[in-house]
Amino acid sequence: MSVLPFDQREGFIWMNGKLLPWKDAHLHVLSHGLHYGSSVFEGERAYGGKIFKSLEHTERFHRSAELLDFKIPYSVDEIEAAKQLVVDKNGMDSCYVRPVAWRGSEMMAVAAQNATIHVAIAVWDWPSMFDVNEKMRGIRLDIAEYRRPDPKTAPCNSKAAGLYMICTISKHAAERKGYADAMMLDWQGRVAECTGANIFFTKDGAIHTPTADCFLDGITRRTVIDLAQRRGIGVHERRITPDELSGFNECFLTGTGAEVTPVSEVGPYRFTPGNISRTLMEDYTAEVNKH
Ligand SMILES: Cc1ncc(COP(=O)(O)O)c(C=O)c1O
Repeated sequence: MSVLPFDQREGFIWMNGKLLPWKDAHLHVLSHGLHYGSSVFEGERAYGGKIFKSLEHTERFHRSAELLDFKIPYSVDEIEAAKQLVVDKNGMDSCYVRPVAWRGSEMMAVAAQNATIHVAIAVWDWPSMFDVNEKMRGIRLDIAEYRRPDPKTAPCNSKAAGLYMICTISKHAAERKGYADAMMLDWQGRVAECTGANIFFTKDGAIHTPTADCFLDGITRRTVIDLAQRRGIGVHERRITPDELSGFNECFLTGTGAEVTPVSEVGPYRFTPGNISRTLMEDYTAEVNKH
């Protein structure tokens, strides 16, 4: 499948306060963010021209940067306005939205106290998979070799680029074996999340999901918990061990990209996407399009 490289597309990218033609949004190869992983980003979706939970994403963007000891040099309001401007200027209705911030080139060593913080915002087409019946087949997951790190070893509440290194390695390994993705355990061997989404299970009509104590407490995760509670479905956020997976009926992922995606396999465990996955998928679609 050939995909037009992301540096060769048409449109506009907001960078450091200005809207630039897509192909002119460059950074120098000697950028601290590239060499030392001092970069944070967001992943958002606009539906019908409006970004879902935009403010929550912008606030998380600022928090992520603070956890990496830098400050986004634009206020929440400025980032909010810039994101909407990029969506509008690119003539997008439904799209993916990617703010990113990184330390620049003034210092190229571990310490970079005085490096300028750069910020860019791009949007691109990433259609949601609306065919519910297709989604209800469920995706197949491997179990990753890498684990989510101990919160004492990394700023796990930051959506930091560096924390995705083990996600890319794990997803590649899973794809090579024919799986769609990999479920990651945490540093203590308990169920954590996937490489770009949170994970849920169902049992006896209730939902069980790992406590987000060493991985991203996704905005979609919180939305889906809220939707389930509105339906009167019990939600248990708790520690889940891998051997418990044989006792669950349904499994699904949540994330800005994944939205609500049913799962049919996790390693040796099998699941049957059912009513709870279907209901939450439909409720989520209704919620993101409600404006
Ligand atoms: C590793 C990881 N976990 C969880 C999530 C879910 O977060 P959100 O629902 O805020 O998109 C994401 C991003 O989608 C992610 O990359």
